[in-house]
Amino acid sequence: MTSLTFADADTPAIPVHVVPEAGLEAWQADAPAAWVTLSEAQGFSGKLGQTLILPGQDGAIDAVLAGYGTEAARARKRFALASVAAKLPAGTYRLAGLDEVATLAEESLGWLLSGYKFTRYAGKPADGALLQADPRLDAPRLEAIAAGEVLTRDLINTPANDMGPEELEAAAQTLADRTGATCHVIRDGDLLAENLPLIHTVGRASPRRPRLIDLRWGGTGPKLTLVGKGVCFDTGGLNLKPGGSMALMKKDMGGSATVLGLAQMIVDTKLPVQLRVLIPAVENAVSGAAFRPGDVLTARNGLTVEINNTDAEGRLVLADALALAAEDAPDLIVSMATLTGAARVAVGPDLAPYYTTDPAHAAALSAAAHDVRDPVWQLPFHAPYEDMIEPGIADLDNAPSGGFAGSITAALFLRRFTGGLGYMHFDIYGWQPSAAPARPKGGVGQGARALLAALPKILNL
Ligand code: BES
Ligand code: MN
Ligand code: ZN
Repeated sequence: MTSLTFADADTPAIPVHVVPEAGLEAWQADAPAAWVTLSEAQGFSGKLGQTLILPGQDGAIDAVLAGYGTEAARARKRFALASVAAKLPAGTYRLAGLDEVATLAEESLGWLLSGYKFTRYAGKPADGALLQADPRLDAPRLEAIAAGEVLTRDLINTPANDMGPEELEAAAQTLADRTGATCHVIRDGDLLAENLPLIHTVGRASPRRPRLIDLRWGGTGPKLTLVGKGVCFDTGGLNLKPGGSMALMKKDMGGSATVLGLAQMIVDTKLPVQLRVLIPAVENAVSGAAFRPGDVLTARNGLTVEINNTDAEGRLVLADALALAAEDAPDLIVSMATLTGAARVAVGPDLAPYYTTDPAHAAALSAAAHDVRDPVWQLPFHAPYEDMIEPGIADLDNAPSGGFAGSITAALFLRRFTGGLGYMHFDIYGWQPSAAPARPKGGVGQGARALLAALPKILNL
């Protein structure tokens, strides 16, 4: 596992002068004449991401110029300085010229994350450009956030042959051991069918036993329960996905990876909450034991569900986990899941759609998302669509026909299991389809950093 940390505070560090286009003249007015000449000769204009190494008399690097573009350019590309970091030779650097502490914090986090690489099967961690934290920053907090994001990415990137329900449990146990959580697991054969029938039913086609992973930290403070979809591979079941749609389905445990990363951030930044994480971990496989279209199942809370598509499995396993969460009456339940293709179509891979009925929660989350550059977008629990998830033959339909509002109807389905408690749900994508600054192609956390920043407000801490 890559560990992304800041350089020692007392190592000599090369300054990286961050220069926006509009600040070029001001920089030139103060800079040594040789630097001005060199930067002009090289056509340095301050364009976003432009990187120029400034050598000293001995040829060693004296300083770096990093173009910071315009506000419009930065709005199109977050973590711009991470792309500068990726171009620099190994060494220790520090940022100069960023006045606003919030911006400094986000660019520093982006720099840390630019060092992420998934090296489990090939390659080695880049021994790249280390950043020294500006003394105004809360460096341990940024390192904790980076570490949580690394955990999320590593879990998603690990293919299903090495990340089944058992390995996901082991990852949760490792986190619990390090951070002093209790970890309780109900495995199939161990009353899972009786207690959590939908988790059992979705997972029973696979020889890799389904299970419910239950982690708890802390004894005081508001109760926060995070529920993450842990479908370690989603074939679609008997409603088999075509090859193209199945290709990326190792990431269908992205919700559980994201709540584990978030839990780690919460614990390591010492947020004073009673935290619980619930993960239904299953493989949605094909076999003679698979559940079928047309089956009617009874969930933990007694609601009956008609299966109209075995590929709408995420909401089934989450339903039981949410019902269990609600029995404890937490102050807030948050679910995260790679739940619908409809969410991807609606907002694309960069934005995390989320649902809440509490306007104060939405306001806090959207402000925090903007501050920490973790974009989210609110979609509605639109009550008139409740009809769409009621098939008549059972209380609920897991896959309404008609093709309308797929992400919303899935969210409404989940809400039926939350006992009317405070509830927030994220329908995430969990995958960066092509490399961007601080985010190589592959698994990525969404919404966790925004939530971490918003939780003090949401929970009145
Ligand atoms: N894991 C998928 C959703 C998914 C697909 C997320 C692609 C991100 C990218 C989920 O289990 C699923 O298959 N959902 C179906 C539901 C439908 C059958 C009602 C979907 O969205 O097509
Ligand atoms: Mn599915
Ligand atoms: Zn799925």
